[in-house]
Amino acid sequence: MTIKKVTKIGVLTSGGDAPGMNAAIRAVVRTAIFHDLEVFGIMRGYAGMVENDIQELNSRSVANIIQRGGTILKTARCTEFYEYEGRLKAYNNLKEKGIDGLVIIGGDGSFKGAQRFSNEFDIPCIGLPGTIDKDIAGSDVTIGFDTAVNTAVEAIDKIRDTMDAHDRLFIVEVMGRDAGYIALHSGIATGAENILIPETKTDIEDLIFSLTEKEKRKKLVNLIVVAEGGEYGDANELAKIIKARIPSADTRVCILGHIQRGGAPSCEDRLIASHMGYYAVESLLIGRNNVMVGVVNNKIHYTPLDKAVKQKQKIGQEWMKIVKILAS
Ligand code: F6P
Repeated sequence: MTIKKVTKIGVLTSGGDAPGMNAAIRAVVRTAIFHDLEVFGIMRGYAGMVENDIQELNSRSVANIIQRGGTILKTARCTEFYEYEGRLKAYNNLKEKGIDGLVIIGGDGSFKGAQRFSNEFDIPCIGLPGTIDKDIAGSDVTIGFDTAVNTAVEAIDKIRDTMDAHDRLFIVEVMGRDAGYIALHSGIATGAENILIPETKTDIEDLIFSLTEKEKRKKLVNLIVVAEGGEYGDANELAKIIKARIPSADTRVCILGHIQRGGAPSCEDRLIASHMGYYAVESLLIGRNNVMVGVVNNKIHYTPLDKAVKQKQKIGQEWMKIVKILAS
C-alpha cells in the first residue's frame, strides 16, 4: 500500500470545550512542525472550515497555552456541515490551502462528521477524544474529564461544610447529559449518600426509605449527587419529589453547571492531551487514518472513527452497593 504523504494539516476543536484542549492543540502543532509539516488552525470547529476561517500556526502561536482552559481555536456547532453542500465548501477551502490531513479534537458527534467528510473527499482525519463526560468508546480517558471531576469535588467539599453546619440535605447536580461518570467519581470522592446516574436505574422508593431511615437515626446531613441526565430529571425535580415525601428534611439544591468545563487543566489532562496530540500527527504520517487516538489500559490505542461513538458504560451495581455501604 502506498502511503499518501501529508504535507499540510489542519487542527480544530469541536463540540463542548474541555480543559486540556489547548494542550492537545499545542502538541499537534509542535509535532507537526518537528516533522516539517505546515499546520493550520481552523477556527470554531467545522464552522471555520465552511467559512474559510483558517490561519497558519507556528510554534509561537501555541506558546503559553498548555495551562489554559477553553480552546484558542474556539468551538461551535455547525449545521451547514451536516449538509453535503457545506462539506463541499469546507473541502474547497482546505484544497485551496493544500491541507491534506485533519486532527479533530472533540466528541463522538465531531468524529461522525469527520468520518463522513473523509469518505466523501479522501482527506485523512484523526480524532482525539475531548469531552468532560468520558463517554467515548475506545478510550478509558478523555481530555477534560480529570479536571472537570476535580472541579466538582472541590465545589462539593465546600458545599459539605455548609451542609454539615446546618444539618441539611443537599442535592448537587453535576454535568453529564448522557453519562454519569462525573457524578459517580465526584460522588464517591465526596462521600455522597446517594448518586443518581443515567446508566443505572434508581429505585426512588429505596432512596426515600434510606433518607427516612437516616432521619430517624438523626443522620441529617445527606448528600445526593445527581447527573443532569438523571432518570428523575434535574436536581430541582428530584428535590420536589423528596420534599413532598419527607417535608421535614431541610433540602437545598446546587447546580454546578459550566464551571465544570472551565479552568486550568489538571496535570493528568495536560499529559494525556500532549500524548494524544503527538500520536495524532504520527498516525497521519504513517497513514493510520480515520482513527481516534485513545488510551486503553494506560497504552495508546486506536479505534476506527466510526466505532468511537458515545458509549453508555455499564457503571455497575457494584459501585452503587459500595456507595451505600460507605455512606451508612
Ligand atoms: O461537554 C459535555 C457536556 O458538558 C454535557 O455534560 C452537558 O450536558 C453539555 O455538554 C452541555 O452543553 P452546552 O454547553 O451546550 O450547554
